[in-house]
Amino acid sequence: RRPIIAIDGPAGAGKSTVARRVAQTLDLLYLDSGAMYRAITWLVLQRGIDPQDEVAVAEVIPDCEIRLAAGEPGTPFPSRIWINDQEVTRAIRSPAVTQHVSTVAAQPMVRQRLLQQQQVHGVHGGIVMEGRDIGTQVFPQAELKIFLTASVQERARRRQRDLAAQQHPPVSLEDLAQAIDERDRKDSTRRVAPLQQADDAIELCTDGLTIDDVVAKIVHLYHQ
Ligand code: CDP
Repeated sequence: RRPIIAIDGPAGAGKSTVARRVAQTLDLLYLDSGAMYRAITWLVLQRGIDPQDEVAVAEVIPDCEIRLAAGEPGTPFPSRIWINDQEVTRAIRSPAVTQHVSTVAAQPMVRQRLLQQQQVHGVHGGIVMEGRDIGTQVFPQAELKIFLTASVQERARRRQRDLAAQQHPPVSLEDLAQAIDERDRKDSTRRVAPLQQADDAIELCTDGLTIDDVVAKIVHLYHQ
């Protein structure tokens, strides 16, 4: 089996950009597990289902097929994603999806389904997967586990830049920081597979580091 790199961390720590670049540099596949949780959340909202209604959410799971591909170079989207053959690459980054994704991602049926799909993507290894529970649940056997962090202020600034690049309406830094805090709290306190640093993960705080710096550090760790 080829190696697996797991990159986990809280909202807006820069996982997507970094994971994609690490995968390119090392010629590995890249998979954005958060995009999968976002796609299900998008479908739930699109069908007018209350994201907190676990029974109704569980009913959409059997007939949802998710497909992922690497994002087009030069676009602000780390991955392209389709759900039931509809492309939702941009739609899954909307503030509405961002607001509800942690509620949907906390539901055991949702996690069970996506865990399985994610593990299938990694059967042959050769992949960089990023998320919240990759090092703890999806690939506890990963050769390299990174836990990326940054201060809330830094993460809010990054998220503001992402939203602008993706042409979503502007949101103030205070509102973004509050939304990030709220999502981290939900992700860290849920019962199933909470956001947590694996015992054998290496923590990297990215405050003040450029993307190139972070990518270089991870590539260096990989070669050690
Ligand atoms: O906004 P950011 O890129 O930091 O988050 P994301 O990676 O797109 O993930 C969105 C949400 O999906 C997270 O806030 C979690 O609620 C959920 N998620 C999860 O529960 N487990 C994962 N492995 C990945 C994401």
